[in-house]
Amino acid sequence: MSSSAMIVVSNRLPFILREAEDGTLHRKQCAGGLVTAVAPVVVESGGLWVGWPGMHLKDSNVAIPESDPEDLSPCAGLKSKQVVTVNMDKNTFDGYYNGCCNGTFWPLFHSMPDRAIFKADYWEDYKKANLEFADMTIRALELMYKERGNELAQADEAPLVWIHDYHLMLAANTIRQKAEEKNLRCKLGFFLHIPCPSWDIMRLFPWDDEILQGMLGCDMVGFHIEDYCFNFIDCCQRRLGCRVDRSNMLVEHGGRTVRVRALPIGIPFDRFKSLAASAPRTFSDSQQLILGVDRLDYTKGLVNRIRAFERLLEKHPEYINKVTFLQVAVPSRTDVKEYQELKEEMDMLIGQVNGRFTTPMWSPIRYIYGCISHEQLAGFYRDASVALVTPLRDGMNLVAKEFVACQTEEDPGVLILSPFAGSGAQMMEALLVNPYEIDDVAETIHRALTMDKDERRLRMTCLRRREKQYDVTFWLRSFLKEMGTLRREDGDQV
Ligand code: UDP
Ligand code: G6P
Repeated sequence: MSSSAMIVVSNRLPFILREAEDGTLHRKQCAGGLVTAVAPVVVESGGLWVGWPGMHLKDSNVAIPESDPEDLSPCAGLKSKQVVTVNMDKNTFDGYYNGCCNGTFWPLFHSMPDRAIFKADYWEDYKKANLEFADMTIRALELMYKERGNELAQADEAPLVWIHDYHLMLAANTIRQKAEEKNLRCKLGFFLHIPCPSWDIMRLFPWDDEILQGMLGCDMVGFHIEDYCFNFIDCCQRRLGCRVDRSNMLVEHGGRTVRVRALPIGIPFDRFKSLAASAPRTFSDSQQLILGVDRLDYTKGLVNRIRAFERLLEKHPEYINKVTFLQVAVPSRTDVKEYQELKEEMDMLIGQVNGRFTTPMWSPIRYIYGCISHEQLAGFYRDASVALVTPLRDGMNLVAKEFVACQTEEDPGVLILSPFAGSGAQMMEALLVNPYEIDDVAETIHRALTMDKDERRLRMTCLRRREKQYDVTFWLRSFLKEMGTLRREDGDQV
């Protein structure tokens, strides 16, 4: 796939930097869906990536290392000259990232307002951080025009600046204004990877008008599903008094018309399929495996999930010694209090359930508090009889899709999915269950464990077909096409 020149702006770069004992810096890969999809296009189009390197650099002019020769990740080809780092003093970063992003917006946008902290200081740091990201994006645009000005003028096509996620909802207007002042033409696109809440929730944020105006600084705003688009359009109309066109998903603001689009992200289906085909087997055939894979986050419904598994063992003691529940929980945002408390609650709860049901040869729950590679994860997905994907709220949830990609057509497992995840709106052939209804979840697990092969095959074939067709490359192409920046292989615009 080819695209016109592109600058990606996200809180995190597609890798994090780590300092070795001798003081040298190295790249460590983070293989999220965004990186897998977008990095090859940035590499191929000679684009740039603006973001935070995952550590506070002592000197902001420090040289970014090239990738290690053995690095086979999708962003290995990203040269250091394609990377523009954003640095901030530690206090501002703390108020922006731990405070406003993860203490305020994360819970609020997941419709959990009781967990959200509203603090003017956090908001000030968020604004400062967004200004810093905007400034570095302008620097990236200048760099691009300096190196490729003639080519860009000839192509008569403005570069795309693609801003990602809730960390950067204010950056677009500053970028637009400064780019105009400096005569740097560009198109601006935004994609929100988390839910967009309804007006009732959005209005709890004291500076909601600024957030909405910030996103409307772009030419197009993308969300995972239509519900989020309609929530956004509704907020713009009710809070800002914008004229909106719901059938064409348009919002008028500041003399411009902003397009709002539902573009559900997919996964690299073929990559997961082939990883699953070659992954070694970890678990014995004699046990049925129930699998959960999540960042340790309160939106993922982990406490309810453990309780539902406990209920299953209470009501169906026939599973004792027969079924194992493996939960992978990736440490996340460990400086935020809510996440520290969840870690303690999980440790305690899992200890209680294991203490109650463990027999001399068997323990009901295996708990990995750590991050597993995709290579190993693909084997877990393949060998699981049931995947429990039961978030209380989730923008999309890629784990549900990765599980499906790793199943065999011959003897597939069963996906149990929450309707409150974006993927729950698409993957209708999963067993959908309300994660707040502990008894229902327990009975749904029982149904999944005893489902006959024909029904499992029928459901999984449909699920796999959809995920293969609407994979991450499809998502990327759709976004670029909507922005008018996708090119055919011969260079003409699609
Ligand atoms: N993941 C991983 N190793 C782990 C657990 C998860 O690489 O040990 C990856 C997983 O494969 C998926 C991503 O983390 O691609 C989680 O994405 P999801 O959309 O499910 O949730 P998010 O963390 O973005 O809220
Ligand atoms: C979600 C967000 C991403 C974020 C990721 C991990 O998927 O949408 O923007 O990068 O969680 O969270 P972290 O705070 O570690 O970046």
